[in-house]
Amino acid sequence: MIFFTSGSVWSVFHKEEKYDFFMPNVQPKASNVYLCTPVKINPENSYYIVGFEPHASMEIVHHMIVYGCPQPGMNKSVWNCGEMANSGINEDTASPCDSGSTVLYAWARDAPMLKLPEGVAFKVGKNTRINYMVLQIHYGHVNHFKDGYKDTSGLYLHFTNTPLPRSAGVLLLGTDGRIQPHKVESMETACLIKEDKLIYPFAFRVHTHELGVRVAGYRVRKIDGNEYWTLIGERDPLLPQMFYPVEEPLIIKGGDSVAAVCKMDATHRNRTTFIGSTSNDEMCNFYMMYWVEDDAPLKQQYCFTMGPPYYFWQNEFQNIPEKEQSVLYLKHNNY
Ligand code: CU
Ligand code: CU
Repeated sequence: MIFFTSGSVWSVFHKEEKYDFFMPNVQPKASNVYLCTPVKINPENSYYIVGFEPHASMEIVHHMIVYGCPQPGMNKSVWNCGEMANSGINEDTASPCDSGSTVLYAWARDAPMLKLPEGVAFKVGKNTRINYMVLQIHYGHVNHFKDGYKDTSGLYLHFTNTPLPRSAGVLLLGTDGRIQPHKVESMETACLIKEDKLIYPFAFRVHTHELGVRVAGYRVRKIDGNEYWTLIGERDPLLPQMFYPVEEPLIIKGGDSVAAVCKMDATHRNRTTFIGSTSNDEMCNFYMMYWVEDDAPLKQQYCFTMGPPYYFWQNEFQNIPEKEQSVLYLKHNNY
């Protein structure tokens, strides 16, 4: 029965195991608390993560994210890791990773399990940059928690010890910059892919704070002096910010560029908004999850520009899609 019920041919060849990655009986005492808990990966072995099975409900968990880190943000079993919750510095607060974080999974609103495509895995542990995984949970309104309520939300990591032929990775595109008051701003980034690999994007996630109206990612390919833009994915950032599948499969190769844009609507705001981590600030992020036919994902993990008023696509591109220049597309949309 093990062999034919899962729908995955790889399950014939590898034994899949589950790791319970749960909060250790935490008591979120205020609304909108972000808590982090780490797992140290045995450095003697490599593990291949093939799926993320949520163990959470939206009544309790607003959203959760799994980060891969070289080192965790704090050496504790639980710490306060609010990106936007606490801007005040206190000793119990730190970011999920010490540095070099990769988002491996994001869950919101009762999203189902994420299974990576056939033969694809996130390799962690030995010979990777990921020595720890950190689970971050944003607890919503806690007023309906009973006195003494202890939470063990989290997820099951599905993994195997058997090497799989394809490696998953995440490239984070984003900007720095600022948004003028009473203005609609376009925050744009782009980078040349220098590594000689074939890259297969299969999921994407967008992240902004409250001014974000639309975020989109593209592949830009130059052929004989002509520039061709192909959409990787676009999303209204007010929808749950989890990973969504890439609808039209495409391949990115060395020599192509990847590009992302966030349309920010500050028409009703009287102050300048800067990029930053508190809820007074904004962020412009497009996460591209991909696989390569190889033992390791791209060395390049980030693609950032200075953003407005310094960097715009028009500085380096000629054939920017009309859609990205039109205000018609600035309304919130359910893609
Ligand atoms: Cu949340
Ligand atoms: Cu943010």
